[in-house]
Amino acid sequence: MRVGYGKKPVPPRPSEHPHLDESWLADGWFSLFLNWLRDATEYVAPGGGRIAEPNAMVLGTVDDRGLPATRTVLCKGADDRGLVFYTNYESDKAHHLDMHPYASVTFPWVLIERQAHFRGQVEKVSEEETAEYWHTRPRGSQLGAWASHQSRRISARGDLEAALEAVTRQFCDLDYVPVPPFWGGYRLKPSVAEFWQGRENRLHNRIRCEKNGSGWEVFRLQP
Ligand SMILES: Cc1cc2nc3c(=O)[nH]c(=O)nc-3n(C[C@H](O)[C@H](O)[C@H](O)COP(=O)(O)O)c2cc1C
Repeated sequence: MRVGYGKKPVPPRPSEHPHLDESWLADGWFSLFLNWLRDATEYVAPGGGRIAEPNAMVLGTVDDRGLPATRTVLCKGADDRGLVFYTNYESDKAHHLDMHPYASVTFPWVLIERQAHFRGQVEKVSEEETAEYWHTRPRGSQLGAWASHQSRRISARGDLEAALEAVTRQFCDLDYVPVPPFWGGYRLKPSVAEFWQGRENRLHNRIRCEKNGSGWEVFRLQP
């Protein structure tokens, strides 16, 4: 990156880090996101604490009444096209995205006083991309995905465990559990990206970029 940012680990006190400014986005949202994700992954607090699940992001969608819903998902792929997560294509979030293919995601890296936020259109990833990721998952997670009709009601935990036993038997002769037809990835393609860095006296740094035709407009917001 032009500013040479991200080559050094976050100092023990994140507030001592240089001020975030527009130049940090000179190479686009993706470079800065990658640097911050790596910082979040590698950060060890003076007391030894770490950020649990640094790739966890809070995904916001809206239902058919316009009522917002948020939940955590894991970011399992990122490049300059967007951020990828995997889920059940018949879940509530998937129904929301069918109706309204736009979403937001927020990475709340509170321990290092940072946040990254993205909004944009969402599309399903290709079946090939889903399959490639699926086959990296532990068998237990694959079977769990088959067993769970995510977001539907179930009367007892025992029914879920029985469903897992049934799919375990169903696939016991197969070396590879197939991808469920109701499961796969989505890519959120940011048209807005905002990076937030905590500072003293609540004079936090917020730098946002917004897609503007084929380019991006980068600007500072008041905290
Ligand atoms: C740390 C964490 C990571 C999660 N990762 C995922 C994920 O990658 N995909 C997913 O479908 N659900 C994930 N969940 C569960 C979701 O938050 C949510 O409960 C589920 O997807 C159903 O959401 P929905 O009913 O709004 O569709 C995760 C939950 C937590 C707490």
